[in-house]
Amino acid sequence: MQVLSVASEIYPLIKTGGLADVVGALPGALAPLGASVRSLIPGYPAVLKAIETAQAVHHYTNFYGGKGRILQAATSGLDLLVLDAPHLYDRPGNPYVGIDGKDWPDNAARFAALSRAGADIGKGILPAFVPDIVHVHDWQAGLVPAYLYYDGGPRPACVVTVHNLAFQGQFPSGILASLDLPPQAFGVDGVEYYGTIGYLKAALQFADRITTVSPTYALEILQPEGGMGLDGLLRRRRKIVSGILNGIDTQVWNPATDAHLAQMYDEKHLAKRSRNKAALQERLGLSIDAERPLFGVVSRLSWQKGLDLLADALPLINEVGQLALLGAGDQALEDRYAAANLPNISCELRYDEALAHLIQAGADILLVPSRFEPCGLTQLCALRYGAVPLVARVGGLADTVVDANEMAMSAGVATGLQFWPVNQVLLEAAIQRAAQLYHDKPSWTRLQRNGMRSDVSWQHPAQSYATLYREVLASAS
Ligand code: ADP
Ligand code: GLC
Repeated sequence: MQVLSVASEIYPLIKTGGLADVVGALPGALAPLGASVRSLIPGYPAVLKAIETAQAVHHYTNFYGGKGRILQAATSGLDLLVLDAPHLYDRPGNPYVGIDGKDWPDNAARFAALSRAGADIGKGILPAFVPDIVHVHDWQAGLVPAYLYYDGGPRPACVVTVHNLAFQGQFPSGILASLDLPPQAFGVDGVEYYGTIGYLKAALQFADRITTVSPTYALEILQPEGGMGLDGLLRRRRKIVSGILNGIDTQVWNPATDAHLAQMYDEKHLAKRSRNKAALQERLGLSIDAERPLFGVVSRLSWQKGLDLLADALPLINEVGQLALLGAGDQALEDRYAAANLPNISCELRYDEALAHLIQAGADILLVPSRFEPCGLTQLCALRYGAVPLVARVGGLADTVVDANEMAMSAGVATGLQFWPVNQVLLEAAIQRAAQLYHDKPSWTRLQRNGMRSDVSWQHPAQSYATLYREVLASAS
């Protein structure tokens, strides 16, 4: 099977969140299963820099306001197709916002162009690579299925994966003419979405299969509370909606070989892990204390992640343990954490991959108090690194962590702690519970070991994607 993947980020070239991790890891996991994936991504400066030797395989003369080319390149084990269109992508800042933190004003054109190129490749514009399946991710690639549909004629099967329904790519209806879509596309059966144009809506309307990144989130998005305006459409198409859990790259995240750690370790040598705790405490200016439970956070700072609730719980953590928080995002939240002036609380407000690894290796507990979480990757890293995850029981967090209740403890299957509903009182109760359990060393060690034995790799999820691809091809033929 030849698969074209279309997304706006890919690890290790350009990343703002878990989307990049997933899009970067899936091709390698699918290769042994008979699916050969090429990934189309925009030619941001970081991407062009990473692909020094590239071959131009297609030229556009007037492409959403300028010239464009499709470059073919291979780097970091990835087969890439890069949409090089300097008027759209050659700028500083991140893929979606400028250095002022505001959305790029031409995002509608930037990601329509990505989608148009994806649809063109799907239709066979590159004779040497004609995909059987186009797999698009999130709203930035959402117009691919719409272009494939309105172009008419034979087309590849199309799968959309929703990584986060909160980001929908909504733009004013006035841009329709500039999108290269016919006027009839502006209807409820087309790209119209509450009077605007919805890129994710378009994907959900026209894709042959809709997946999201955990089974529980796949159910949540069918309900009004989790559907964020799209639950009606999703319920109508529920027969083609499924949830496939994410994995993590177990080579990038391997405590036995991780060069970012002060001390490498594995499940059989768990005692060595304490060197990382001490190194983390030292690096962050926290007191070096093996007995105080050290809570960790590695996260985007946003309402989704429940980190406003955690900010209110800082005095409690300061009393019962310590906190190593690494995060960047909402200015208001960054300001709150920057202002925290408590001896046992350390907040590093930036993106830092090396520190993220050390936190996973040194923290006793990894906190993920999300209000909603399509899958979540940091709790998977925590399981692998023996940091016990304390999570809200939502979305993929519910599917990947087994709460340390009496039954699960006596059955020997618990891997972490869960709480729900997500509010201040229950978050604080869960923090207290974790701190107490931490002092019960035999139980704690069992939790750690169970977590480290959980399979968080891409092996099973990749098999589910390969099966889905085969099914969608069989039903198309
Ligand atoms: P989301 O995609 O919603 O942000 P995920 O848990 O799926 O959440 O993925 C987040 C990814 O980004 C993980 O790989 C995590 O380690 C990484 N990450 C998040 N914040 C930071 C940060 N401040 N520094 C380094 N890595 C981070
Ligand atoms: C999104 C979600 C996160 C998920 C990631 C990768 O960013 O917020 O829960 O893990 O995508 O699928």
